[in-house]
Amino acid sequence: MDMTDKVVLITGASRGIGAAAARRFAEAGAKVALVARGSDAIADLAGEIGAERAVAIPCDISRFWEVEQTVQNCVTAFGRIDVLVNNAGVIEPISHMAEADPDAWGQVIDINLKGVFHGMRAALPRMVAQGSGTILTIGSGAAHGPVEAWSHYCASKAGALMLTRMADKEYGEAGIRALSLSPGTVATQMQREIKASGVNPVSELDWSDHIPPEWVAAALVWMCGPDADEYKGAEVSLRDPGIRSRIGVA
Ligand SMILES: NC(=O)c1ccc[n+]([C@@H]2O[C@H](COP(=O)([O-])OP(=O)(O)OC[C@H]3O[C@@H](n4cnc5c(N)ncnc54)[C@H](OP(=O)(O)O)[C@@H]3O)[C@@H](O)[C@H]2O)c1
Repeated sequence: MDMTDKVVLITGASRGIGAAAARRFAEAGAKVALVARGSDAIADLAGEIGAERAVAIPCDISRFWEVEQTVQNCVTAFGRIDVLVNNAGVIEPISHMAEADPDAWGQVIDINLKGVFHGMRAALPRMVAQGSGTILTIGSGAAHGPVEAWSHYCASKAGALMLTRMADKEYGEAGIRALSLSPGTVATQMQREIKASGVNPVSELDWSDHIPPEWVAAALVWMCGPDADEYKGAEVSLRDPGIRSRIGVA
């Protein structure tokens, strides 16, 4: 997939899937806006990719005004926004419902669900004005079934999948491509936190059970192309061997 001079804004770009995606999009020719709360890691990654192709924008996606300013900063730096990758997300605090701290539970919703809406809300007016744009959101199998002690995460991912469907419903005919990607389990910091919780079957998986974040990055770039159009308003599953072979990962 040739992404030459396409402008891609990636949330959660400081590590894991987001950092791998930033490198992959840049290799494909894109200009990338790197977003996370912490500024050091995204600044280092922007330096690695190169100042003319990458910009680091510290932002907490749970605050709409920060996300709106971030999209504005991306447009100021690169002139437009072609792709939004809603990737940032959290799993902690993992806890059963009767013991969950309500404020901390709500903070996960603010990031994993409202953060996705904030990205869409900030990017859609510009994309609609351009007549084109792709919005990719990292989903999860947790959107489809309950996982012990993950009520916040499962609820947020189910809601985020509906936001992809909503964006397609309302803006598909305006040229907006909204797709979700369910990656399976991926070898990142999030899986270290899940392992440390020791709560449910996911925490018992071996590190070797997880796919590398580079596979997810390859999927995201593929999803920007016409081969993925059949998944507009829907979810791509990276557990599907057919999808893996179309993307070119083992
Ligand atoms: N790993 C898996 O097995 C797996 C499976 C299915 C889905 N996913 C999803 O994949 C996505 C990426 O996860 P990952 O595995 O790469 O996790 P990760 O390594 O923990 O990375 C999470 C990223 O999100 C950023 N972030 C967290 N809260 C944020 C906020 N409020 N505002 C802006 N950025 C924020 C983090 O940076 P800062 O802390 O600096 O903000 C970091 O860059 C998540 O949506 C996750 O739910 C992961």
